[in-house]
Amino acid sequence: MNVENTTRAQELRNNLVDKLIDGRIARGLTLPAEAERALRTVPRELFIPGVSLEEAYGNTAVVTKRREDGVNISSVSAPHLIADMLGQATGRHILEIGSGGYNAALLREIAGPDGSVTTVDIDPDVTDRARECLDAAGYHDVTVVCADAEFEIEPGRRYDLITVTVGAWDIPPAWFSQLTDDGTLVVPLRTLGMTRSWTLQRTGDHLVSRSNLSCGFVPMRGAGASKGREVPLGDGVNLWLTDERQDVDGALVQGVFSSPRHHARSGVIVTCGRHSSDLDLWLASHLSGFAVMIAQTSAVESGLVDPSWQYGTPAAVHEATLAYRGRLRKVADAEFEYVAYAHGPDGARAAEEMAEQMRAWDRAGRPAPILHVFPIGTPDTELPEGLVLDKRHSRVVFTWPTQ
Ligand SMILES: C[S@@+](CC[C@H](N)C(=O)[O-])C[C@H]1O[C@@H](n2cnc3c(N)ncnc32)[C@H](O)[C@@H]1O
Repeated sequence: MNVENTTRAQELRNNLVDKLIDGRIARGLTLPAEAERALRTVPRELFIPGVSLEEAYGNTAVVTKRREDGVNISSVSAPHLIADMLGQATGRHILEIGSGGYNAALLREIAGPDGSVTTVDIDPDVTDRARECLDAAGYHDVTVVCADAEFEIEPGRRYDLITVTVGAWDIPPAWFSQLTDDGTLVVPLRTLGMTRSWTLQRTGDHLVSRSNLSCGFVPMRGAGASKGREVPLGDGVNLWLTDERQDVDGALVQGVFSSPRHHARSGVIVTCGRHSSDLDLWLASHLSGFAVMIAQTSAVESGLVDPSWQYGTPAAVHEATLAYRGRLRKVADAEFEYVAYAHGPDGARAAEEMAEQMRAWDRAGRPAPILHVFPIGTPDTELPEGLVLDKRHSRVVFTWPTQ
């Protein structure tokens, strides 16, 4: 790259990092100094060759591989998402699961001269590409491995940070056994249809979360893949059910939107929906028949449904009645009220029940959940009190701190 382009790239990179930091401040978050330094140092354009400098610093993901049917299966993640995950934990000996090259280079900067970074991907096209880009950018000492990260990568090695950059549904035993005793696992984990990037700290024989953030990732492939299923409700609206809890009978609510919509206001006011992510998990923990509802734009534009977020709003199904969180009601500049809607024979009660859980969360001090991850064989008596979800390898429990 010529001097002019190098200067331009540095300028665009600094502008992007300034924006990332401003965005985080607006959410009450900071960025660790070593993560900021890494983001200001690594030339992202070298990890997405063929893309213009403006696009390389445009704060969006760049898809690097699609399946034959067009579905995205690999990308260089969006800088805001990368900054979020770098902000969740740092380490010296780091395993990255899911390779794009760029994040591995950032982690290499963060690990420091005595540290190490291994990045693993299931797809040889991705690892070949990552290796090439890392070499072009001078990060020759990042180890790139092609393997299914469901299993141990470098047998016998342990890492103080494992950062997973692909959507996981479970925590396989290898992620636990590869962590040092005080190690941290950062993982976008899908529970009940909602993905959060959790910072999990190893505590004896289990993991406990320190923080979580909303995020979206391409799903894991290989032995750890989990399909989930969509239940069509008709006219472009689906319920999304994941594999850990299947007690929702979508067939009973087919065509439910043809019955009148009941409204219940919660009286709970938020600034620009800032806490919705924690409330989602509260509703999942406290409402039976919980599912996530997804609506196509046509269903929203026609007025059939009016969800708080069309790509995944919390919903609850009881026999032939369906309740969901409606579009937030504007009460003042940048202030919004949570509302619940419901359709079906028991709609008035179901809407009020969801609104009451919104109030209960507010009364509890709008807490964020704590996630505990135990091995699958752990007896109930050894689990903390909370919502327990059984996965393939682990039992995850959501608990709610009171303030
Ligand atoms: C979002 S991309 C990773 C982005 C990357 N960390 C970056 O620098 O931006 C997710 C990657 O996870 C990989 N992946 C999916 N399942 C996997 C598995 N079981 N083991 C290892 N990698 C996997 C995909 O092939 C894909 O390349």
